[in-house]
Amino acid sequence: MNLQLAIDGGPKFRPTPFPTRQVISEAEKAAVLALFDEAIANGEKVLGYNGPQEEAYGKELAAFLGGGFADGVNSGTNAVYLALRSLDLEPGGEVIVGPVTDPGGIMPVVICGHTPVIPDSAPGSYNTSAEQIAARITDKTRAIVVAHIAGIPCEMDAIMKLGLPVVEDCAQAHGTLYRGQLVGTFGAAAAFSMMFGKQHVSGGQGGMVFTKDEKRYWRIRQYADRGKPFGLEKGRTNVVAALNCNMDELHACIGRVSLKRLPAFIAARRRIANLVDKGLRERVQTVRLVTGPKDGESSHWFTFFHLATDRLRVDKARFVDALWAEGLIVGASYSNIAQNQEWYQKAGYRQWPLPNITAADATHFRGFLTETWTDRDAEDFVGAVAKVERAYLK
Ligand SMILES: Cc1ncc(COP(=O)(O)O)c(C=O)c1O
Repeated sequence: MNLQLAIDGGPKFRPTPFPTRQVISEAEKAAVLALFDEAIANGEKVLGYNGPQEEAYGKELAAFLGGGFADGVNSGTNAVYLALRSLDLEPGGEVIVGPVTDPGGIMPVVICGHTPVIPDSAPGSYNTSAEQIAARITDKTRAIVVAHIAGIPCEMDAIMKLGLPVVEDCAQAHGTLYRGQLVGTFGAAAAFSMMFGKQHVSGGQGGMVFTKDEKRYWRIRQYADRGKPFGLEKGRTNVVAALNCNMDELHACIGRVSLKRLPAFIAARRRIANLVDKGLRERVQTVRLVTGPKDGESSHWFTFFHLATDRLRVDKARFVDALWAEGLIVGASYSNIAQNQEWYQKAGYRQWPLPNITAADATHFRGFLTETWTDRDAEDFVGAVAKVERAYLK
């Protein structure tokens, strides 16, 4: 075998592209066509909102989560916003949000009139932990928002013991387990994103707010639709000023089909991740697939890999560039850190010391294993990593 690295002009270990995702299948198409047929036959209301598709989708997601109530909305960002707003906190307090999250996972804190406070991650992790959160709690702390980054669960038992209201941001973690319990079912309310890249999708955009508390569910519905008096006695008018975050019937229709495929999707990703994990342990010394807490199970929205940079002659950036050149789809970093962003800095919020996340990001890279991979694809991933490691090992 030619061992010259592709980055140095050698042959690519994996010359053909890895399989891409099949986010939308014939089943989603058939459901959408049937909905259109119904709309053509029965009128425009069929494609409206607050209709039977959304109601069924909410019930199906709640059933997937083991019971409760779910409201379809038009994005994960709005789902976080509504989950937080449903806590009915006095504005002007502090809300603690993990250090790494999508802007849509933290901006709702500000929109709801609170100050974001950022704890560090747990050592070696992109997720925050009870210990890190506890270090930021003051008498102004009103709530905690935790995101299960990449699909890896936060250690929810300890976080719930802090005794503050918790919003779980499950945008990246559909079907993730912690101690056998699905994430999203620990906190007061949970937010899901079903935008097109997520584990299950409702089309280009979409979200869901979940709660086990029926009263909170009706409050969420009110906040999601201009304060309409959902869940209240007849004759009431719009009860609160709010935006329109509704999901429409078309997106709900797509999401329902996609949700049915979710368990198979997660099982396929876990199988591929296990194969890659095993292969790396057998053949590679410096790269390990990150599985998260030992009593958790990731749903692998993407997958973190730890790189023992101290055992290599090159830095992480060069190693990852070399993997790219061999044909792998990898990312050098996941530095979605709000306090480094312009909007946060312009508002004058505090810069927090975050040594753990800085250290974690210096030694991890991301891989994108999809449910469409075969055993051969997993072997090629490991083989390409082994080739690059051999060239760069000290
Ligand atoms: C952790 C997290 N929170 C919130 C969001 C926002 O979701 P959306 O893009 O659907 O608005 C995302 C999006 O990827 C996310 O990853």
